[in-house]
Amino acid sequence: MNDIGIAPSILAADFGYLMRDIKEVENAECLHIDVMDGHYVNNISFGIPVIQSIRKYTDMKFFTHLMITEPEHYIKAFADAGSDNITFHVECSDDPDRLIDEIKALGKSAGIAVHPDTPIEKVFPFIGKVEIILVMTVYPGFGGQGYLDISDERISRLRKEIDDRGADTVIAVDGGVAEDNIRHIYEKGARLFVAGSSVFHAEDPSKAVEDLKRCAISS
Ligand code: DX5
Ligand code: ZN
Repeated sequence: MNDIGIAPSILAADFGYLMRDIKEVENAECLHIDVMDGHYVNNISFGIPVIQSIRKYTDMKFFTHLMITEPEHYIKAFADAGSDNITFHVECSDDPDRLIDEIKALGKSAGIAVHPDTPIEKVFPFIGKVEIILVMTVYPGFGGQGYLDISDERISRLRKEIDDRGADTVIAVDGGVAEDNIRHIYEKGARLFVAGSSVFHAEDPSKAVEDLKRCAISS
């Protein structure tokens, strides 16, 4: 199974000091970048120019989470802005296979995200096709919410399906991940953990990344 990774979500950073905050978490495996359009979710975050700007100042891998409708119109722009992985919502595309192919043709890793109210089976056809399946463990749109318990069973079912197929698709989880539940979520089968508040609201974000990792793998 895959190695463990922490992906700090800059949604919880101080945008007035964005690069300072990013520099503090360069010890993490990648940076999670939440793009919200005010249509798919009831919130607006930031977009392409911000990603272009921060791309100049860090070598971190950018894991771009598109919470937008009609993602097909923007894949190239997010790739060109410096994303390493582009993850879109299964609920937002009529033809996810085409989008995945497009992301890959641009030389990027592809991810598909799934909303808590969408049956987890909806992403099964993309196992082995995408690098990451992002299981939303909160309702998308805002940071600082609690982990939804219904996620346990969803992650386990996805884990089993991936293992049965012998695929190496990584299960990522997004929302409500903290020191006190990361081990539990790891045991369900997740390996990449998006964490906003528990990293950027900590006194020492760099240490918070290490602590989360330690908590996940220590029994
Ligand atoms: C929610 C976003 C998450 C969010 C996680 O829509 O996709 O990435 O930033 O924040 P926390 O870790 O605070 O739940
Ligand atoms: Zn996210």
